[in-house]
Amino acid sequence: MTEKKESEKSKKNRLYDLSKKFLTRKKKQVLAPEKKAEKTAKHAKENKTAHGYVKSDPAPDEEDKEQSETKSEETDELLPHEILNGKSPEELEAEAKAEADAIAKEQKGEVVSAYEFMSKNIPIQVRVVKFEREFVPTYEVSISQISKTTELILEKIRQQLIRHVNLGIIEITDFRKADVIEDKFKKTIVVLINKYFPDLENETKDFLVTYLIQKSLGLGNIEIIMNDDFIEEIVINSSTEPLWVYHKKHGWLKTNIEISDEEQTRHYAAMIARKVGRQISVLDPLLDAHLGVGDRVNATLSPISTKGNTITFRKFSREPFTITHFLQYKTITSEAAALIWLAMQYELSAIIAGGTASGKTSTLNVLATFFPPNQRIISIEDTREVRLPKFLHWVPLSTRLANAEGKGEISMGDLLVNSLRMRPDRILVGEVRRKREAETLFESIHTGHSCYATFHANTAEETVRRLINPPIEVPITMLPAISMIIIQFRNRRTGNRRTFQIAEILPDSSVNVILQYNPKKDILEQVSKSKSLMDTLKLFTGFGESEIHKDLAEKEKILNYLVKNKIDSLDGVGRVMAEYYTKRENLMSHVNRNKKLEDN
Ligand SMILES: Nc1ncnc2c1ncn2[C@@H]1O[C@H](COP(=O)(O)OP(=O)(O)OP(=O)(O)O)[C@@H](O)[C@H]1O
Ligand SMILES: [Mg+2]
Repeated sequence: MTEKKESEKSKKNRLYDLSKKFLTRKKKQVLAPEKKAEKTAKHAKENKTAHGYVKSDPAPDEEDKEQSETKSEETDELLPHEILNGKSPEELEAEAKAEADAIAKEQKGEVVSAYEFMSKNIPIQVRVVKFEREFVPTYEVSISQISKTTELILEKIRQQLIRHVNLGIIEITDFRKADVIEDKFKKTIVVLINKYFPDLENETKDFLVTYLIQKSLGLGNIEIIMNDDFIEEIVINSSTEPLWVYHKKHGWLKTNIEISDEEQTRHYAAMIARKVGRQISVLDPLLDAHLGVGDRVNATLSPISTKGNTITFRKFSREPFTITHFLQYKTITSEAAALIWLAMQYELSAIIAGGTASGKTSTLNVLATFFPPNQRIISIEDTREVRLPKFLHWVPLSTRLANAEGKGEISMGDLLVNSLRMRPDRILVGEVRRKREAETLFESIHTGHSCYATFHANTAEETVRRLINPPIEVPITMLPAISMIIIQFRNRRTGNRRTFQIAEILPDSSVNVILQYNPKKDILEQVSKSKSLMDTLKLFTGFGESEIHKDLAEKEKILNYLVKNKIDSLDGVGRVMAEYYTKRENLMSHVNRNKKLEDN
C-alpha cells in the first residue's frame, strides 16, 4: 500500500519533471524588483477576484509561481514547438508511455475489466485493476484521446486561463451567474485551443474545450466519472485517501484520483451549495443537496468528520431503468410484471417498499410507464428522481427546504394536499416518512385517486406494521385501500436487486403474500392464490377469471417482445405502452410478427 503510494507519487514527480522540461520560456529575462512586486500583487489580486472557481484545481505550485514571476508578459504566450522543447510529439509520447509501462510493471496488476464511455463529448477509458498488494481493486480512469503531452499543454493553457480571464466584474458567489462565467471561460479557451492545436479536427477541439471547462469550473474528474453508467456512488473520505467509487459490477473500488488537499473538498462542497442556493461553513458544516438531474450530494466538514472533509455523491441513473432492463436483469419476472401492469391499468393503488438503496424509486419509475397516456399524473418528491416517457401527461412537483431564517419550506405533505386540487388521476409519492404524508396519502386513495408511494420496510408484513404503529399510525381500517404491496430487495452477497414479494391486503387488513422470491432458484414464485386483488380486478374490469388470464398472457407477450427487440429506452417503452392503450390491435399485430413499431 505504502509502496504503491510512493510509486504513484514518484510517477507524479517524474511527470512533473517532464512538464518542466517542456515549459521553458521564450525569454528568461529577470524582471526588475519593482516590476516583480507589481506583478506579484496583480497576480494575487486576480486570484482573489476569481475566488473559489479558480481554486477548483490545485493552484499552480510554488515552483511554477516563481517562474511566472520571472518572465515578461509575452513569455506567457508559449508556442507549441517551444512547449515541446525541441522534441517531436512522438518522442515525448514514447517517453511518457515508457514511464507508465514501468510503473504498471512495478505494481503487477491484473486487469479485471476494461471499457470506455463518453463523458459529454470526451471519450474516457476505464480499467479495473487488481493489484497484488491491494485488498480492493483500483478503478483507473484515463482520457484515451488526450496524450500525456496534450495534457501538459492543456494544463499550461488552464493556468494561463486562470491568470488571464478577468472574473472581477462578475459576482461569482451568485450561482445564477454560473452560465455567464462558463461562457466567458469558453470564449477564451476556444481561442487558446485554436492557437495551440490549430490542426486538430473540430470534434477533438470541442472535447478539449469541455475538458478544460470541467477542470477549471466544475468538479474536474468527479464530473467525468459521474457519466460512467456503472458508477452508483462517488465518495471523498479525506484528502489523505484517493476517491472511492461504488461500481455496479465490482462494488467499492479505490480510484486513481486524488484530492489535493482538504481545501479542494471544501471548495467543491461550497460550489455545490452555491448551485442550489445554500451554504456550507464551519457554523453550518452539513449539506444535503439535490442536483438538477436527480443526483444527491451530502457533504460534511472537518472537524465534524474527524478524518477530513467528506462528500458523498449518490448518482441517479442517467438513462432511467425501464421494465425491459428489469426483465433482462431478472429483477422481476414477466408474469409478475403483467400482474402489476393489469392492476395499475385499472387504477389500483400500490406501495413499493424495501430497504435502503434496494431500488424502490427505480421500481416506482419503471412501473409508472404502465400508465395510460390520457391520464394526469402528478409526482411529488424531495428531489426530482422520477422520469416519465414523453407520451404521458405528467406534472412533477418537488419539495423545498426552509431557508436560513427557517422560512419558505414546502413539505411533501403540502404538495400532497395541493396535488389534490390539480385534478390528478394518478399520484406518485417519492417517499412516505411521516404521519401527515401517510394520512394524506390514504385520504387521497379513499377519495378515488390511485396513488403509488415508496416506503421504507423490508417485507409486506413489516410495511403494514410500520404503517399502523407510531409514529405513522394510519388507522388500521384504512389499510385495505392499498391493493398491492411490492417489496424490492438487494442481495447483500451478489449485489443483485430483485422483487422480493408481491402481496395484497385483505379486507381485515391482514397481508397475503401472492408471489415470493425464492433465493435458491433465484425466481419469484407464486406462493398463494390471490383473494382480494383478483376480486377487485374482476369488479373493476367486469372480466371473469379466464378473461383476466387471457389479458395477463397478452401483457406477458408484450413484455417479452420488449426484451426480444431490446426496446429499453424510456420513450421506446413509453411508445409501446401508448400504442397498447390507443391502438392495441396494431401493436399486437407487430408483437405477433415480432416487428418493431414504425417511428411517429
Ligand atoms: N433492478 C435494478 N437492477 C440494478 N440496479 C438497480 C436496480 N434498481 C435500482 N438499481 C440501482 O440501485 C441504486 C439505488 O436505487 P434507488 O435509488 O431506486 O433505491 P431506493 O431504494 O429508492 O434508495 P433510497 O433508500 O436511498 O431511497 C441506484 O444506483 C439504481 O441505479
Ligand atoms: Mg428512493
